[in-house]
Amino acid sequence: MCGIIGITSNKPVSSAIINSLRKLEYRGYDSAGIATIDNGFINEIKSEGRVDNLEKNLVTKSLKGTLGIGHVRWATHGIPNTVNAHPHSSETVSVVHNGIIENSTILKKLLIKKGHKFKSQTDTEVIVHLITEYLKENNLKDTIIKVLKQLHGSFALGIIFKDQSDLIVGARRGSPLAVGYGPNENYLGSDSYALKSMTNKISYLDDGEFCLLKKNNVEFFNENGIKVNKKVLHVSSQEENYEKGDFKHFMAKEIEEQPITIKNCVKEYIDNINNEINIYNIPWKFDNISSVVLIGCGTAYHSCLMAKYWFEELTSLNVSTDIASEFRYRKNRFKEDTLYIFVSQSGETADTYAALDLCNKNKMKTCSIVNVIESSIARDANFVLPIHCGPEVGVASTKAFLGQMLVLYIFILKISSLTNDLDKKNLTNKIKDLKLLPKLVQETLLTEDKIRMSADTFSEAKGSMFLGRGFSYPIALEGALKLKELSYVHAEGYPAGEMKHGPLALIEDGMPVVVLAPRDNYYKKTISNMQEVIARGAKVLLITNKSTDEVVSENIWQTIEVENSNYDLIPFLLTIPLQKLAYYSALKKGYDIDKPRNLAKSVTVE
Ligand code: AGP
Repeated sequence: MCGIIGITSNKPVSSAIINSLRKLEYRGYDSAGIATIDNGFINEIKSEGRVDNLEKNLVTKSLKGTLGIGHVRWATHGIPNTVNAHPHSSETVSVVHNGIIENSTILKKLLIKKGHKFKSQTDTEVIVHLITEYLKENNLKDTIIKVLKQLHGSFALGIIFKDQSDLIVGARRGSPLAVGYGPNENYLGSDSYALKSMTNKISYLDDGEFCLLKKNNVEFFNENGIKVNKKVLHVSSQEENYEKGDFKHFMAKEIEEQPITIKNCVKEYIDNINNEINIYNIPWKFDNISSVVLIGCGTAYHSCLMAKYWFEELTSLNVSTDIASEFRYRKNRFKEDTLYIFVSQSGETADTYAALDLCNKNKMKTCSIVNVIESSIARDANFVLPIHCGPEVGVASTKAFLGQMLVLYIFILKISSLTNDLDKKNLTNKIKDLKLLPKLVQETLLTEDKIRMSADTFSEAKGSMFLGRGFSYPIALEGALKLKELSYVHAEGYPAGEMKHGPLALIEDGMPVVVLAPRDNYYKKTISNMQEVIARGAKVLLITNKSTDEVVSENIWQTIEVENSNYDLIPFLLTIPLQKLAYYSALKKGYDIDKPRNLAKSVTVE
């Protein structure tokens, strides 16, 4: 997943491009580059690593020109170095690309036979040479149409030409691309977030479309070159000034913000006076729905797994979950009585979007639960439920995870009332309990000291395990993912009852193991599983909820008690210590917490 920006203006563009690239770094930060057209020449600067490095290079070699493109990269083909950084340019054309050209190898061979010389190992470079080749016998628009038809796979493209002083070509298939409208200038960007500092007027290209973007005019076309009209949306610019403030990292801020973001989300969905759920205009009747499939990736998938327990507990619907990258290629049996729910913080995750697109193509009922309301997954589902947690900048998802779970839970309460699975009294009690969640999260955030002490052990370990039963199992998976992606230490989330079927062999003296054992129906069984790993030398960090009953077990290394609450809400509270454990483990190792290696915030390639 990479980030693209293009600007055509009546004033120099290089510093505006750099500013937008900084906002796009959440999409990838292996390398960065910029190209402008100045007096009929393509000028290009690229650098490894962050945009800061690119800016340093710009000091020595300033780029003039009122037309330019920029790119931040998350490597798919070719190691993250300067040569493979985008833009990729020939003498006549320069290209930035987000996506994967799946037939690049074949195309490269054909182009080399025609005498083209390649500099990089990237798939993107074939686009540069294809355009150069087709321009020999076609006008610019026909060249674009023909080249795009040659490409297999996904792309969002920004293209500039040395003999065009006021034109950026944008093209989209499978990877998001937006156009922004400014005063005597216009913009191309991967998403509205990159454009918000310059405009709140945005249009989105749909798959197969391309645009000819000039400073005072933008034209959109379909894949055959037929003009299409695009709506101009006015997006909110409220997120513009989201900064770390006094926090060392965005992730730290986003963990601490959770009481507020949960309160805001509850306010959005719960009518405080009459304890009603403000979810209306659902486009289907639930008496025609007997099954639900929940689909997501990574942390979003874990919220799907969590929702499965609530659906089973509170409704009579058949519920299943799937990882989007599996679902999209599975031999699915689409049924009319099934509702497909897609969970995605960014709303641009390629696998999740592809799964949604597949369901749309099969005319299925689709609902999306997203944080970025202007995103593709928000726009293209029949029904969208925003999580209202504000921008989440840290690549490791924290407040968005709780937000996803919260909206799923509220939606499930709504559904249970529509299907009469939950009576009014019970529903009202659960809604009242829900309103206490912000305070409970606030108090649970205070379990700081013990977590900090435990973090050293986890950060220095060869590996660790996270165990839970029932709805503690998805939370165990989430805790393991957080530790993996932040401290680069292997960690495995596992159903506690499954340890004896093999993974118990991993347990050795001093191995840190997190056991999630709230006082629920699984408590006693999970405590037994905990004793099995302690008996084999594990250092157990037990996370349970406050109770007057003592935990009946010896040799527990550390115990953390989260606040007591309505049982449905325990998963929210169990998550908090796990977020902090991962944070402090990574802090101890001195890693880049907001941008962990090899990752990006929005995975817009498959
Ligand atoms: C979360 O900590 C991870 N960075 C990652 O698993 C993320 O949840 C996943 O890529 C899905 O992203 P999305 O919610 O934007 O679709």
